[in-house]
Amino acid sequence: MRLQSPGDAVDKGAHRLENPLRARETGAVRELRMTYIVTDACVRCKFMDCVEVCPVDCFYEGENFLVIHPDECIDCGVCEPECPVDAIKPDTDDEADGKWLKINAEFAKIWPNITVKGPPPADAEAFERETGKFERYFSPKPGKGS
Ligand code: SF4
Ligand code: F3S
Repeated sequence: MRLQSPGDAVDKGAHRLENPLRARETGAVRELRMTYIVTDACVRCKFMDCVEVCPVDCFYEGENFLVIHPDECIDCGVCEPECPVDAIKPDTDDEADGKWLKINAEFAKIWPNITVKGPPPADAEAFERETGKFERYFSPKPGKGS
């Protein structure tokens, strides 16, 4: 679909933006706010296409994984289709115990912000189809940020 204005890319989820922004402004309905989360498929792939499109720069970099800061994400959805391995999901698709939201929230507090795509790991493609990577390979060490 052809975009009518530069803001359309961000506005494509406008019906979803309304509640999160209002929640942030008033605090009264804070529990209604939603976020996107990075999940298992990112581990050791870390392609970083996602960071270039985020309008609020809310990605944070670990050694072999990225996270989204849930308090900064405006739930626009722009990053979701950018990830070549479909690692980015709305938090409504999280596991029942909120596993990925907790991981994203915890590491977004301590890892550096990343806004510029760097080179992915040389062996990233070897891990594209593997599942259960977080338990096997996740590193809590910070990345370099950019
Ligand atoms: Fe950034 Fe993705 Fe959140 Fe949009 S949905 S604000 S692109 S992290
Ligand atoms: Fe990870 Fe996908 Fe972004 S692999 S770094 S979530 S583009």
